[in-house]
Amino acid sequence: MKYEVVITSPKINNNGNSDIYNNPNNICNIYNNRKEHDKYNRAPIGVYFKNKGDNLLIRAHLYEGSHTYNILKKEDYFVINICSPYIIAQSVYDDNGNYKLIQYNNHILPYLSEAYRIYIVKIIDRKIIESKNEYGHSDIMIIEGISLLKKDIREPLIIPYNRADGLIVEMAVLYSRLNIVVDSSQKDKIKREMEHYFKIIKKVGDKNHIKLGKKLLSGL
Ligand SMILES: Cc1cc2nc3c(=O)[nH]c(=O)nc-3n(C[C@H](O)[C@H](O)[C@H](O)COP(=O)(O)O)c2cc1C
Repeated sequence: MKYEVVITSPKINNNGNSDIYNNPNNICNIYNNRKEHDKYNRAPIGVYFKNKGDNLLIRAHLYEGSHTYNILKKEDYFVINICSPYIIAQSVYDDNGNYKLIQYNNHILPYLSEAYRIYIVKIIDRKIIESKNEYGHSDIMIIEGISLLKKDIREPLIIPYNRADGLIVEMAVLYSRLNIVVDSSQKDKIKREMEHYFKIIKKVGDKNHIKLGKKLLSGL
């Protein structure tokens, strides 16, 4: 089964390196929020989890062109954030997350403070394949990783299901597709679908869903 998560990673600088600092201490430690949004990247990504013996293996398919693709082509370490549908949808819009930092051996990695649980993942294999779908050709990088550390961050809220949660994630998926679609009739179709979902969100969602839905529509 595929799960939607947010992947956070340090951005790469102009020299093509990330801002992962070397640290001599071999401890796992959490730092305070440094409010340095420009240094960190977040993106909603579909991820497959598989238990193999005592190990948790992770696989994701990354479309060429995203920052996450470019970062993880070079960097071996990243964080999987298990979080609410709202945070998943919000993460497609910008990188202005509430980041905290976690240290694992020599690596300092960003995660989202709203996450319920995080996994620190090390990439153990990359494959680049060409893919063709309804939107055209593009390269996909299949990454396989192993979870090095699982950490619970905050208790999930126990709340009844709200339809706006599912719909705002669907709006976010459509929003991200608009970046790769060139055909104008396909773009119009996507926009109409987003507007349809937004109508329902306005009826059943809270002010955060509505504000985010408006932002996604205004970015079209
Ligand atoms: C729920 C959801 C799931 C997504 N899954 C994937 C995925 O599996 N692979 C991928 O390449 N992009 C996926 N995307 C699209 C990326 O999140 C999107 O391209 C994003 O803008 C990338 O951000 P970045 O440029 O900061 O990496 C998904 C988007 C959403 C909303």
